[in-house]
Amino acid sequence: MGRILVTGGTGYIGSHTIIELFNNGYEIDVLDNLFNSKETVLDKIEKIVGKRPIFHKIDLCDYDKLEKLFKNNQYDLVMHFAGLKAVGESVEKPLKYYENNVGGTVNLLKCMQKYGVNKIIFSSSATVYGEQPIAKLDETMQTGVGITNPYGETKHVIEEMLKDMADSNSEFEAVILRYFNPVGNHPSGLIGEDPNDIPNNLMPIIMKVSRGEIKELSVYGDDYPTPDGSGVRDYIHVVDLAKGHVAAIKAMEPGILIYNLGSGKGTSVFEMIKAFESASGKKLPYKITGRRAGDLPEIYADPRKAEKELGWKTELTVEDAMRDTMSYLNSL
Ligand code: NAD
Ligand code: UFG
Repeated sequence: MGRILVTGGTGYIGSHTIIELFNNGYEIDVLDNLFNSKETVLDKIEKIVGKRPIFHKIDLCDYDKLEKLFKNNQYDLVMHFAGLKAVGESVEKPLKYYENNVGGTVNLLKCMQKYGVNKIIFSSSATVYGEQPIAKLDETMQTGVGITNPYGETKHVIEEMLKDMADSNSEFEAVILRYFNPVGNHPSGLIGEDPNDIPNNLMPIIMKVSRGEIKELSVYGDDYPTPDGSGVRDYIHVVDLAKGHVAAIKAMEPGILIYNLGSGKGTSVFEMIKAFESASGKKLPYKITGRRAGDLPEIYADPRKAEKELGWKTELTVEDAMRDTMSYLNSL
């Protein structure tokens, strides 16, 4: 079946993807520096699927250690989740983001090249579309214009790097997956997203408000040109997202393939609050504040390319994500 190196595999999306990879018979090594995750997630994965990945605590910025890993192990494919993702922090500390995300990926690609590993699946983001005249985004749209933060720029730069690699090596195979807004967690409630620091994203903030760790949710604007005035995004259940990666492996071919992974459906902040309230049975305290700089009113995926070419589409809803979030919260 194949042996996969999963960078960032102890993180939120990586850990959910490993479960789906094990369910499909792959062997897995995880590389992570544990900057934003804990090794104990591997125990939870083992509890869920009865298999445990081999773990390597390595920082992608440490070329020598990375090179040794590739020298001593034979991988068929790299799934590259590792990266820093705090949009706000990337504005304050841009070099940290370029060094870690772009520099780390350069090291990874150098090692892959040196040891003849030609296949990579990369975690990109809808942020690469920047500002577009319409809300429904498809893969043919221009990228890289109007990206409002260094985090997003690193995703765009890495995408370009992968395209250049494919141009220089006819055996290179890359799939770029542009995630929309991942939410939810494994239905067992054993793993999920629970950042230690103050999160920027809506769902982890809702979770912290519900646990009383943050007093109330700030709704960033109720005067957008959307049906209820709040921002609209395409929330995708992380288990659906994880399955998208398995589908991507099966479609790989020489060159670059790019797919949106989203549901195609927009949900507003107020609708997210209501969905959470109905799953938790409790009111969620919130206040309306001004718009957050750089936010767009409405974004959602055109997911048809992934459906047509990967045979993949989302099956779970925001309501499913909220139910699974509650199992996770109750287990903490
Ligand atoms: P996460 O922080 O939970 O996981 C990322 C993992 O990478 C962490 O375990 C972290 O310790 C590790 N890591 C970071 N830098 C590293 C380095 N230099 N060397 C080794 N390990 C390193 O984040 P996530 O939500 O699981 O995101 C996974 C990927 O998906 C990231 O690349 C992220 O940018 C991308 N993405 C996430 C979202 C989202 O909303 N969660 C949206 C679009 C794209
Ligand atoms: N929001 C609030 N209050 C909050 C946090 C968010 O009202 O405290 C709103 C935002 O204004 C937006 C929606 O909730 O309308 C979602 O915001 P997120 O921060 O969760 O997600 P974004 O769509 O802004 O950003 C996400 C990823 C980025 C990525 C971007 C574009 O977090 O990494 O999508 O794909 F760059």
